[in-house]
Amino acid sequence: MQTLVQAGIDAMHLAYAPYSGFSVGAALLLENGIIVKGNNQENAAYPSGLCAERVAFFSAGASYPNQRILAVVITASSALYTQGEPVSPCGSCRQSMLEYELKQRAPIPLYMISPSGEIIMAPSIQSLLPLFFDSRGKL
Ligand code: THU
Repeated sequence: MQTLVQAGIDAMHLAYAPYSGFSVGAALLLENGIIVKGNNQENAAYPSGLCAERVAFFSAGASYPNQRILAVVITASSALYTQGEPVSPCGSCRQSMLEYELKQRAPIPLYMISPSGEIIMAPSIQSLLPLFFDSRGKL
């Protein structure tokens, strides 16, 4: 777990966030032990950027499509102010992450970690997105 948290922090420090100054890191632990990292990638055309969570999940989906995701860590910090609370994923990321949870038919615990080390744990992605849209039915 320590390694996964550190990977999330490392990813956060590598975020490309020149417009918001808000750096987010995500780290996924796969069944094969590999940790896949992602961070927010912003763009001069703002909507063309992407959140850390989706960068990480899409990367895992692209490189390791058959590996179950065992856990996710999300970290965030702001260059402009002190980020007190752990950051929780935006709605679009919840929907995107849920796709992988449904696909693997096993919950993905999510650990949201503040710069001071406060942790909020969600037992699954689904728990963060009640009444979600899904054409295949619930887990
Ligand atoms: N951001 C994430 O990376 N993940 C989230 O769940 C919410 C927001 C990013 C997007 C943008 O680069 C910056 O944080 C400020 O919104």
